[in-house]
Formats: sequence, structure tokens, C-alpha cells
Amino acid sequence: MIVKSSIFKTSVVKSDDILNLEMPEFAFVGRSNVGKSSLINALAGKNKLAKTSSTPGYTKFVNYFIFNEKERPFALIDLPGYGFSKTGKQNILLWSELITSYFENSQNLKCVFVLVDSRIEPTEKDLQMIKYLYANNIPFKVVATKTDKLSKAQLSKNLKAIASTLKITTNNIISTSSEKKENINLILDIIENFMN
Ligand code: GTP
Ligand code: MG
Repeated sequence: MIVKSSIFKTSVVKSDDILNLEMPEFAFVGRSNVGKSSLINALAGKNKLAKTSSTPGYTKFVNYFIFNEKERPFALIDLPGYGFSKTGKQNILLWSELITSYFENSQNLKCVFVLVDSRIEPTEKDLQMIKYLYANNIPFKVVATKTDKLSKAQLSKNLKAIASTLKITTNNIISTSSEKKENINLILDIIENFMN
């Protein structure tokens, strides 16, 4: 699929304000700093559509981006990161409520991309997320990020460990690098398939 346009639509702070956009939606979740916003930028072919930061916990709200608005529009949703917060327990709870509320209220959610850092063992929260999606019949794909930081051998070893922790097989993990634009087209292919 060719991305012809991408815009930031809005940022939702409260559960009650989750949008109904009437177009297919694809959400990005994962621990803070895993590379969700960077992946959305890579998909858009832009550097600064979604704001990124090396400080974990940067995206705090539900951010909506609309792609190909004039043709077959679809929305990408940048969800707050989980599992890392410098702002206290209250915020972690609020964030997870916002994420849950997004899943419960999005009528057109087609697929969730669950991002895991290819260098780091997935956490209990990643496993919880996958179990939640599975239990609620929400289609999901696991995406390993930042593969440019690893050698081929290290990547292959880590993918096995990630698959084992998440109780999936390695061919169910899409390895990506937003930095080097690797396999970004595979994510676009998945999006396209869900739209047909
Ligand atoms: P939160 O908004 O805090 O939840 O984080 P996020 O998941 O949106 O992560 P973000 O995209 O802001 O990226 C975090 C850091 O990782 C930034 O410093 C990015 O430049 C870096 N990063 C993201 N993707 C890649 C990648 O593919 N390769 C490399 N080398 N760095 C990356
Ligand atoms: Mg972010």
C-alpha cells in the first residue's frame, strides 16, 4: 500500500472522549520507549508526525493519526506506553484505564500491533496485553523493534526468547527498524489486508 498522506487528528485524554472515526483503526501498544511513535512516523514516511523522545513515558494520551484521508482512509492510534513511569502510580493506573477504554470503545479496531524491543525480554505486562487481546478476540501482531541495534545472530537468538516468553512462534513476530526503515512495508501490507 502507498501512503499518500498522513495527518495528526487529535489527542484524547479522557476515556469518555474516545472517538468513533468510522474508518478502520490500527493501534500501537507496548512499553514506554519501545518505539511506537517512531514506527508511526516510519509508516508515514515523516520524521515528526508523532512526537518521539528518548525519555520513557512520552506519549501520555491516545493520539489519532489519519492516513490517506482522501482515498481509503484508515487511522493509526498511538497509545500511551505501559510499565514505566516517573510520575507515580496514579498515572500508570490512569494510562492503563485509557488503554482499556480505547479497546472497549473502538468500534472499528481491526488489529493491534504489540511492540516489543528486540534487545529486551518482554515483560509480564506484554504477556498480560497479549492475553487480554486474545481473550477479547482482538486481532494482534507482535512487532520487534530497533533491530538495527543487533547483529543477525543476536536478533535470531532474541526472537526465539521473545517468542518463548510470549508463548507464540517466531514466524509470528515481525522484525522492524524504524531507523533503517526495515520491514515497514510489511506492516503496511498487514494494514491493507485488514482493510479488504
Ligand atoms: P513512549 O511514548 O514513551 O511510550 O515511547 P514510544 O514507544 O513512542 O517510543 P519512541 O518512538 O518515542 O522511541 C523511543 C526512543 O527509541 C527514541 O529515542 C527513538 O529515536 C528510539 N527508536 C525508536 N525506534 C528505533 C529504531 O528502529 N532504531 C533505533 N536505533 N532507535 C529507535
Ligand atoms: Mg510515544
